[in-house]
Amino acid sequence: MRVLITGGFGFIGITLAKVLVELDYEVTLLDSLTVQVHGEIPAFEAPAGVKCVRMDVRELADRPEVLEGMDVVYHLAAETGTAQSMYRVVHYVDVNEVGTAALIEGIGKCVRRPKHVVLASSRSVYGEGAYVHESSPGILVVPQSRTKEQLVAGEWEPVDGQGRVLTCVPTPENLGFFPGSIYAASKAAQELLLQAASTALGFRLSIFRFQNVYGEGQSLQNPYTGIISIFFNRAAQGIEIPIYEDGRESRDFVHVSDIVWGLVNVVKADLPSATVMNLGAGQPTSVLSLVDDLLAATGCNVPVRVTGQFRLGDIRHCYADTTRAKTLLGYSPQVSLREGLRRFAAWASSQPRHDDKLEKATEELRKKGLAV
Ligand SMILES: NC(=O)c1ccc[n+]([C@@H]2O[C@H](COP(=O)([O-])OP(=O)(O)OC[C@H]3O[C@@H](n4cnc5c(N)ncnc54)[C@H](O)[C@@H]3O)[C@@H](O)[C@H]2O)c1
Repeated sequence: MRVLITGGFGFIGITLAKVLVELDYEVTLLDSLTVQVHGEIPAFEAPAGVKCVRMDVRELADRPEVLEGMDVVYHLAAETGTAQSMYRVVHYVDVNEVGTAALIEGIGKCVRRPKHVVLASSRSVYGEGAYVHESSPGILVVPQSRTKEQLVAGEWEPVDGQGRVLTCVPTPENLGFFPGSIYAASKAAQELLLQAASTALGFRLSIFRFQNVYGEGQSLQNPYTGIISIFFNRAAQGIEIPIYEDGRESRDFVHVSDIVWGLVNVVKADLPSATVMNLGAGQPTSVLSLVDDLLAATGCNVPVRVTGQFRLGDIRHCYADTTRAKTLLGYSPQVSLREGLRRFAAWASSQPRHDDKLEKATEELRKKGLAV
C-alpha cells in the first residue's frame, strides 16, 4: 500500500504515519511545516522509513507526480484555528479550500490516480450541534450561534427561536451543515469539493468529522488551537489558567490514538464512497473538569480563573453520536480522558518550553471585536 498524508507532520499525521509504517505501508508525508505549528526552526523527527516532501498542499495541481500511483491519500493539511479564521479569512479559505481544489486537480492529472481519499473534516461543520427541547425529545434542533448581546448578558446556554433553553444531545452525521466560523465553513467546503470530484475522477472518498483531538505530539507552540496544549504550557510555567464563559461549556475530547484507529481501519473496510462518520469519545466534558484532570495529570498547581470572557464563533457544547462508526467500522474509543491526559502530560513534560502566546492571541481577537 502506498500512502500519502498531506499535513503529515501535524500531530495526527505523524501518529498515523507511525502506525502505517508498522503495518508495512509505504508512507510519504507532505507538509509545508508552517511556523504557527512548528516554530521558526521546525524540530521534528520523521518516523523511520517514511519519505518526506516539504511543499505547500496548494502546489499539488502543478506537482501531480507526488500523487502518482498512491493507493490512499489522507488529506489532513489545513489551518485549524477557529477564532483566527474569523479575521484571516482569505488565508483560511485559500489553504483549506484552494488546497483541496489543488489536490483534486493534481489527482485529475495523474496517470495512475489515487484510489481512495480520506478527509479529516471536523465537528465544527455542525455549528452548535444537536439539541432537543424537553417538550419534544425526539426532534433535533440546531440553535443559532449565540449573539454578542446574549454572551455579554452571560446567557451562555443556546436557546431556540422562542427563547427556550435546550438540552445538548449526541450529534449525528445527518444533522446538516451549520458552520459558525470560517474554519467550519472551509471544512464543509472541503467535504463538498471532494464529493463533487470523487465519482468523476474515480476515487473512493471517506470523510471523518473529528471532535476535539488531543495527544502526544500536539503543537505546544500554537496559541490558536489545542486547548489542552495551551493550558499545559501555562500550567508548566506556573501561569494562571483563564477559562472563558462560566467554565461549564463542554467539548468531546478524543485521544489521537482512537482517531488514528479510525483512519487506519477505514482503508480496510469496504464502505460506499462518500461515507461520512463522526469520530469522538462520544461524551461531553466541561472545560472546568478538563482543567482539574489536566492539573492532576501534570502535578502542577496554578490558579484557575473563570473569566466570564468569551470569543465570538465558539460553540457552547457538542459531542458526537458515534453509532455510525461503531456499526460500520467497529469503532470503540479505548483511551479514557484521564489516561490520555496522563500520556499527554508525560510526553509534554519532556518537551522544550515555549513562551506562552495565549494573551497575545486573545488581545488580537479583542482588538478585532471577536473576543470580549
Ligand atoms: N486536532 C483537532 O482537534 C481536529 C479536530 C477536527 C478536525 N481536525 C482536522 O485534522 C487535520 C489535522 O489536524 P491536526 O490537529 O493534526 O493539526 P496540526 O496543526 O497539528 O497539523 C496540520 C499540519 O498541516 C500543515 N499545513 C498547514 N498548512 C499547510 C499547507 N498549506 N500545505 C501543507 N501543509 C500544511 C501544518 O504544517 C501541520 O503540520 C486538519 O485538517 C484539521 O482540520 C483536527
